[in-house]
Amino acid sequence: MFRIESPGRISRRRFLGAAAGTATWVAAGGLTGLAGAALAAKPAGATRNPLFIPSVASPSGFELTAALGTIDLGGGRRTPAWVYNGLMPGPTLIARAGEQATVTLRNGLTQPTITHWHGMLVDHENDGHPMHVIPTGESYNYDFPIINRAALNWYHPHPHMLTGEQVAMGLAGAFIVRDVEEDALDLPEGQYEVPLVLRDTSFDSAGNIQYKPRSGGFLGTVPLVNGTRDPYLAVDRAIYRFRVLGGANARIFGLALSDGRPFTVIGNDGGLLETAAEVGQVDLAPGERLDLLVDFRSQPAGASVLLRDLRSGWTLLEFRIGGTLVAGSIPSGTLSTVTPLAGPSGVTRTFSFDGMTKINGREYDMDRIDFTVPFRVIERWRFTTKGNAPHPVHVHGASFQVVSRTGGRGGLFPWEGGWKDTVLLEDRETVDVLVRFDAYKGLYLMHCHKLEHEDMGMMANFEVV
Ligand code: C2O
Ligand code: CU
Ligand code: CU
Repeated sequence: MFRIESPGRISRRRFLGAAAGTATWVAAGGLTGLAGAALAAKPAGATRNPLFIPSVASPSGFELTAALGTIDLGGGRRTPAWVYNGLMPGPTLIARAGEQATVTLRNGLTQPTITHWHGMLVDHENDGHPMHVIPTGESYNYDFPIINRAALNWYHPHPHMLTGEQVAMGLAGAFIVRDVEEDALDLPEGQYEVPLVLRDTSFDSAGNIQYKPRSGGFLGTVPLVNGTRDPYLAVDRAIYRFRVLGGANARIFGLALSDGRPFTVIGNDGGLLETAAEVGQVDLAPGERLDLLVDFRSQPAGASVLLRDLRSGWTLLEFRIGGTLVAGSIPSGTLSTVTPLAGPSGVTRTFSFDGMTKINGREYDMDRIDFTVPFRVIERWRFTTKGNAPHPVHVHGASFQVVSRTGGRGGLFPWEGGWKDTVLLEDRETVDVLVRFDAYKGLYLMHCHKLEHEDMGMMANFEVV
């Protein structure tokens, strides 16, 4: 197996050493709540930048280059970043179920990389496992059928111990799958369907993107939506479909609208929910996705609605309401059929997310298979934490169904229905999921999607056999 001997600029020793000398991670959980309001937030009407919408591409015959580049975060000044095809976020890939993705990844970075298709059901060779990293100047050919249901997935680097840096420097993009079930719902489309990639960042004294990993998880000082600082989006008086991705290294967002209206949650990581849910505040952890409808029809022209993060107090995005009224309706009733994974037929496995670097007491070793899972058997996986939460737990190779949460927040949330591939474990929580690997056999990963925890070893290899 290929092994990364020298992990680029952040050696493991330096990373852990820096962690050991500080106690700041406890306060770095981002749970400042409403009290932390107005940090770095700009009032409505302040100078804002138009929201960047990445260009769209098909993943069939697609060339994806990860390289150093410069981007405009808003305001016209170019800032160095690490980008896919020159963009941050990278191009939005859109495909229909049944199509074939054929992507050539080229590594124009100065360190090894590999791209993972988070949420896509692919075999091991196409999964962007860190053992498949390619050095500078090399390429990797992906070739897989799209067997997912309609959903917002995403792509990002997955080299061992370098993922946090590569994502923080700008490498990530959306990957939307469509299918006939979704078509039938007649959801908002075209300009009324908008991807929102949420993350945070920090700047050095020259105003350039800066990544300083910290063991408790990187928390930036400024929010970015689709790579835009202080963004606004001009909207019609219409229903919008927002495809929202938790693209931060570690920050959890608590989304709400400034006028108090609820979001209509219609989907999450694995696609459509069974029925829509109206929710005033939605939490979004790294790796998670949300499919939200927002109805601006009752707003007067000229009004402004803010998308806020109640956890940091930030304003993430301003919607500026225009004069055009567009008819539409929010789907009611059944959106999709989600067949419950009925009663586990296999074992229950418990995974303890310990400290910041271990699962069940072990740090990740690329050459060790931590456990094997039988193909097509339903199992109960129990995620629990012994400290240093939150840990957004992510599983490759299958979607799962979240069935219970005890301790901590003590229950499940409407956006955790249906199919998920990432679930948030807050302090003192135990979360049970049911999972069945019925797409492919092979070697996959489970890890904390707080990228600094992942990079430090809070990750495991398992093989579906
Ligand atoms: Cu989004 Cu294994 O990662
Ligand atoms: Cu993944
Ligand atoms: Cu973690």
